[in-house]
Amino acid sequence: MTRARRFTLDTPAGPRHAEMRVTDIAGIIALRHAILRAPLPRDTAHFDGDDAPTTRHIGVFLLDADTDNIDNIDNIDNANDADPAPGDNVGCATFMLNNWRDAPAWQLRGMATRADLRGCGVGSAMLHFARAVLTDVAPHVTQLWCNARVPAAPFYEKLGWTIASDEFVIPTAGPHFRMTAVLASENDE
Ligand SMILES: CC(C)(COP(=O)(O)OP(=O)(O)OC[C@H]1O[C@@H](n2cnc3c(N)ncnc32)[C@H](O)[C@@H]1OP(=O)(O)O)[C@@H](O)C(=O)NCCC(=O)NCCS
Repeated sequence: MTRARRFTLDTPAGPRHAEMRVTDIAGIIALRHAILRAPLPRDTAHFDGDDAPTTRHIGVFLLDADTDNIDNIDNIDNANDADPAPGDNVGCATFMLNNWRDAPAWQLRGMATRADLRGCGVGSAMLHFARAVLTDVAPHVTQLWCNARVPAAPFYEKLGWTIASDEFVIPTAGPHFRMTAVLASENDE
């Protein structure tokens, strides 16, 4: 079973060690809210399906510079702190089983990286990690889709996603495209 993967972020302030792992909604909700829903109330950051047994939440958490200890995460509510600290949740992505054009598919929701760590590989690492995680849950489901914010569309395109709709507006979150991708196997790289 795929549970965690460690990697190094190449940040402007130097390398930071991080662990990416499957977590629960409590582990990521503060970051999801801060990046994707603030200043709306925290409740608006909860999605139908967050607690479904097949839903998978992936979080990236900073590790201590000198230790491998990730057990004592007590900073998950610090999405707005000035400096990211060990234990902070700095990336989040949620995958829910939700049909695409009447066929079984994974819907990617709530994808976000803490603002000061964007462009350091957090987002792409989560999408790569998701392959193994999702294959464990539903081996035959390979279709991915999401409602992508228009400014984020080039990020998804870089990772092989394709725009599959005209632009449309979600009132709480602005202009979007629907985008799709196929979950590649590890051997396809
Ligand atoms: C979209 C988002 C999750 C990307 O996360 P990230 O951690 O910055 O992504 P990565 O660092 O892995 O970026 C991978 C590549 O995509 C590029 N990239 C990231 N965001 C981009 C964007 N908006 N436009 C163009 N390129 C982008 C990176 O520069 C990097 O390029 P490289 O491989 O040539 O170095 C992040 O920008 C974010 O949280 N945005 C605000 C919230 C949001 O819009 N979420 C998506 C909702 S659908």
